[in-house]
Amino acid sequence: MKALLVREHGPIESLTLAEAPDPQPKAGEVLVEVRAASINFPDLLVIGGTYQKLPPRPFSPGKDFAGVVAAVGEGVTLCKPGDRVTAQIEYGAYAGKCVVREANCHVIPDSMSFADAAAMGLTYLTAHFSLVERARYQPGEVVLVNGAAGGVGLAAVQIAKALGATVVASVSSEEKAALAKANGADHIVRTDVPDIRESFRKQVYDAVGKRGVDIIVDPVGGDVFDASFRTIAWSGRVVVVGFAEGRIPQVKAGILLVKNISLIGLQWSDYRDREPQKVRAVQQELFRLYEEGKIKPHVMAAYPIEEHQKALAVVRDRKVVGKVVLLID
Ligand SMILES: NC(=O)c1ccc[n+]([C@@H]2O[C@H](COP(=O)([O-])OP(=O)(O)OC[C@H]3O[C@@H](n4cnc5c(N)ncnc54)[C@H](OP(=O)(O)O)[C@@H]3O)[C@@H](O)[C@H]2O)c1
Repeated sequence: MKALLVREHGPIESLTLAEAPDPQPKAGEVLVEVRAASINFPDLLVIGGTYQKLPPRPFSPGKDFAGVVAAVGEGVTLCKPGDRVTAQIEYGAYAGKCVVREANCHVIPDSMSFADAAAMGLTYLTAHFSLVERARYQPGEVVLVNGAAGGVGLAAVQIAKALGATVVASVSSEEKAALAKANGADHIVRTDVPDIRESFRKQVYDAVGKRGVDIIVDPVGGDVFDASFRTIAWSGRVVVVGFAEGRIPQVKAGILLVKNISLIGLQWSDYRDREPQKVRAVQQELFRLYEEGKIKPHVMAAYPIEEHQKALAVVRDRKVVGKVVLLID
């Protein structure tokens, strides 16, 4: 099979497209012919060697994919050869075939394309777990999403809107603002401003009032996190999802006490590995929302695997809006 391989960690140019042996499913595993896999920001960290979990080299990166079941190992009952599925894994999606635990493999609706299914993998599950499992979203609350035109961000905007929230979206450009609005954001906060610390809070207060926001979903970190933290309402919840900006913010514990704020972490892959039944239930809810037309991934571009450099560069260069997908024959 074709596979993108990390032989040595480095820039995206260090990836090579090569022939690799087909994997074989063991008991409880499913072998899938991959048709589409999505690029996620963490893939760049994995390729670069700075991600928290790294497999032995050589390996294929890629954390979510969709395709057709080619074979199943002993004891598998949740899918069968020929089924159209999507799955989430730690690595290995950028290849012609991929083996996944049955527990992490989900049959997709007939109406869903492989590209949409792959694009709805890690980011939509992360966004849903941020809002519901971690922040305990209550109907009608005000949700602020940072990096709202990115993969996790746009998914959070759509899901929060589908759940009935008032959605405030922070973004760094006019193009990203338009996309967030088109996907359900009620209010836009611009982060490409001279004094982000003061301007961010003013924009939020002008939009939703001085009470501020009940929940912040933050995949960005850095100055955006710091500025947005000042807009949290009494008894609000802030979910730390990632640090795309590069700087891990610091929070003084005193402010948590004074405003009854909950600062909450999310490492979604732990749910995938420890509580797959919970993930399955959320995945079914996401499929239902998709079929009802309430959520739909924005696939800005789909590239054949041979053009993986172009696909990865879009994410590396902060040009991605929504999702970029790799297509595999
Ligand atoms: N905790 C988890 O389980 C989990 C799961 C998935 C992803 N993540 C993390 O979540 C973060 C976002 O992932 P994603 O796939 O949504 O990424 P993405 O599609 O690239 O979006 C990231 C957003 O962050 C903002 N940003 C600010 N500074 C940036 C910079 N220097 N470079 C790139 N983006 C920058 C951009 O929005 P503006 O231009 O509008 O600022 C961009 O839209 C990453 O840190 C990723 O590792 C965590």
